[in-house]
Amino acid sequence: MNSKGKILVTGGTGYIGSHTVVELLNENYEVAIVDNLSNSDEGVLDKIREITGVKPEFCQLDLCDKDDLQEFFAKNRDIDSVIHFAAYKAVGESTKKPLKYYRNNLVSTINLLECMIDHKVTNIVFSSSCTVYGQPDQLPVDETAPVKEPLSPYGNTKQTNERVIQYTIEAGNPIKGISLRYFNPIGAHPSAKIGEIPRGVPNNLVPYITQTAIGIRDELKVFGNDYNTPDGTPIRDYINVVDLAKAHVAAIARLIDNKNKTAYEYFNLGTGRGNTVLEVIHAFERATGKKLNYKIVGRRPGDVEQVYADTSYANKELGWKAEKTLEETLRSAWEFEKAYRDKN
Ligand code: UD1
Repeated sequence: MNSKGKILVTGGTGYIGSHTVVELLNENYEVAIVDNLSNSDEGVLDKIREITGVKPEFCQLDLCDKDDLQEFFAKNRDIDSVIHFAAYKAVGESTKKPLKYYRNNLVSTINLLECMIDHKVTNIVFSSSCTVYGQPDQLPVDETAPVKEPLSPYGNTKQTNERVIQYTIEAGNPIKGISLRYFNPIGAHPSAKIGEIPRGVPNNLVPYITQTAIGIRDELKVFGNDYNTPDGTPIRDYINVVDLAKAHVAAIARLIDNKNKTAYEYFNLGTGRGNTVLEVIHAFERATGKKLNYKIVGRRPGDVEQVYADTSYANKELGWKAEKTLEETLRSAWEFEKAYRDKN
């Protein structure tokens, strides 16, 4: 079958990147990955081949090195679109090492946009976050909600990158963009071959749950049960990573087919459903039959009380909807954890 286009996926060996590469290959796009492997492993490429039958092109490259990036674009003239995942993403670390986060996350996007302009690559999908909304005034939160004061340097790099892309487009450069604001991506591919592999102690809830269930961590700490929610624990919108990956394919198709309404669009990617931390824990226990050892502790600084998406705009315009249930998604995370620990 003919390729629908060649997509550069930055950060394509990472968690969301690798799942997106699989969905792009499934839909007959050609893929080239660039990644500096700072938080991922080249072995992911073989896993992608096992799932799809195709091993994507790969170039180990740091987007902050503009000469290397220019050379990459010069050698890959058939690229027509970019999905930009590559970034540091640990919220806590970003508060301790802000300059590391600003340099990496901003310089990489600036270099990428400059190279895209130089090499006449017009389409960019940017990996953003619901963190841009902070604690929204209204729930569920839709795309018209204001961007709030950032909660961390990490969150600020997401907001700033969105602005960098927006102003670059508004200045008349021949670029079209879509910013995808993820809520809480969790789970793994149903093959259990790719998933989330945190280095060191996980920051996020679901990897911490699966590592506790498998015995790497003694107990899960639940950060606060005195929030104004039904059981006192914070509410998030947990979205299956494969569902999320499919939205990227829809976004790329929209740009390639010129179906976008404005040169830069924003979409919320979530399920539209909010769940408390305790609900997630109990859904995990039901889905896997594993009992979790957990303890309520104090709040984690910077956490918002509740956030979940109004997904109607993405549903309508992207023709996309999150389909997987919370339980099946948590089961997929568990199956991946077991398969990964068997081999590592
Ligand atoms: C965090 C970031 C968000 C970022 C996302 C991706 C904040 C405020 N937000 O989302 O900007 O895009 O990660 O990395 O940091 N929890 C526990 N125990 C744990 C871990 C988490 O109780 O060991 C709770 C948290 O308090 C929160 C929920 O689980 O209520 C989800 O936490 P997490 O998975 O870290 O995601 P967010 O904080 O929502």
